[in-house]
Amino acid sequence: MRLDKFLANAGVGTRSEVKNLIKLGVVLVNQEVILDSGLDVNPERDEVLVDEAPVSYQEYVYLMLNKPKGYVSAREDRKDPTAFSLIQGYEHRDLHLVGRLDKDTTGLLIFTDNGQLTHHLTSPKHDVGKTYHVTLDQPLDKKLIDIFKAGFSLGEKEMVKAASLNLLTSPHQVSLTIYEGKFHQVKRMFSKFGYQVVGLHRHAVGDVTLGNLKEGEFRELTHNEVAKLKSL
Ligand code: URA
Repeated sequence: MRLDKFLANAGVGTRSEVKNLIKLGVVLVNQEVILDSGLDVNPERDEVLVDEAPVSYQEYVYLMLNKPKGYVSAREDRKDPTAFSLIQGYEHRDLHLVGRLDKDTTGLLIFTDNGQLTHHLTSPKHDVGKTYHVTLDQPLDKKLIDIFKAGFSLGEKEMVKAASLNLLTSPHQVSLTIYEGKFHQVKRMFSKFGYQVVGLHRHAVGDVTLGNLKEGEFRELTHNEVAKLKSL
């Protein structure tokens, strides 16, 4: 990888800022001053210092956000605040959203610049479970548990796969795990049977859960969590 790209990805500065630093002679690779921005560096093997401080490199970044209500799952929006605006300090990374949540849905949103993992987690070919706490406008009829377990058609030619539905502490509160990410899927699944979803919160993707991350806060995923997502 080019030295300027390596430094920019590591958050040292923008591509043009790091080129200037290199020209100033403050960048050392394996104890040698390097003036060539295009030098090929191996992030695993080479030691890179800027102003004598070692630069540690992460090939990919993985973040989770507890999205509050009212934020849209987008980078920019003319009308509403965006989920991206809550992520600070990663402007130098080309982060993407792994799936989306509606503006009025709260909970777990994952961001990464690992395109392969994004594709893996969002592809309909892989059965990645997404678990929601759902608040309904009326008590759940338990018959729905078996209907959801079998899968059903949402509309003409649109089937939803088997989903796991469980009652929580009150008959209005359920937990639902779905294995696809169709547009407004949870709301449409309940609407088909005459229910309105009045609260929707995603708390897990696979085994990765929000834990006690507060609303509006974000953090990097642990190695263990990244490994879990990759194994889905
Ligand atoms: N299903 C929905 O209807 N909305 C979401 O935000 C996520 C899943």
